[in-house]
Amino acid sequence: MNTLLQINTSARAAGHANRLAHEFVDAWRARHPADRIVVRDLTTAPVPHLTETTLNAFFTPPEQRDEALQAAARLSDELIAEIQGADVIVIGVPMYNFGIPSTLKAYFDHIARAGITFRYTANGPEGLLQGKRAIILAARGGIYSGTPKDTQTGYLRDFLGFIGITDVTFVYAEGLAMGEERFAEADEAARRQIHALTSG
Ligand SMILES: Cc1cc2nc3c(=O)[nH]c(=O)nc-3n(C[C@H](O)[C@H](O)[C@H](O)COP(=O)(O)O)c2cc1C
Repeated sequence: MNTLLQINTSARAAGHANRLAHEFVDAWRARHPADRIVVRDLTTAPVPHLTETTLNAFFTPPEQRDEALQAAARLSDELIAEIQGADVIVIGVPMYNFGIPSTLKAYFDHIARAGITFRYTANGPEGLLQGKRAIILAARGGIYSGTPKDTQTGYLRDFLGFIGITDVTFVYAEGLAMGEERFAEADEAARRQIHALTSG
């Protein structure tokens, strides 16, 4: 039995990226009914930005944290335990203003912790979340994949690779704002890819 972690990041609950993530997870569940599904819904419960207190908590060894610092580290600890327990991570990622949603960035800021999800060695950084697979469902109004304007793909590969997740597959639904025909084609292509990925 595997655990799948679904991370929703659309601003709207019924956003396209969330919808594609649901579709992936529904198809996965049909294929792997015994698997556990965990949902981290940043749409309805976004994590806060990092603050000075949160960073102080991260950089203070657990045994030296007072109650306030313990409280400040709690959410990050919970998010890290959640992703540590996942075998497959499915993230719906809309493009907002040429980047990833700020909710996803805030989430990443809480799970990148030295000594827990990555460490530096004499050979450079080493990711500590090994043996996981990530699927990114990318929804975009325009068309960017394969061009320098795709600010998401490289960034997501870099970040996930940094914490040890190197097996990353992208499914793109692009040109969603470019007319009904283009929308229908892009949506259909993404759904076909989702079904190919979940039927193996
Ligand atoms: C606030 C906002 C900013 C957006 N910025 C971009 C953008 O920079 N580039 C783009 O291609 N599409 C942009 N779009 C279109 C979205 O990427 C597209 O509608 C996508 O389906 C949104 O995913 P969602 O439905 O999950 O929110 C933007 C949409 C919104 C609501």
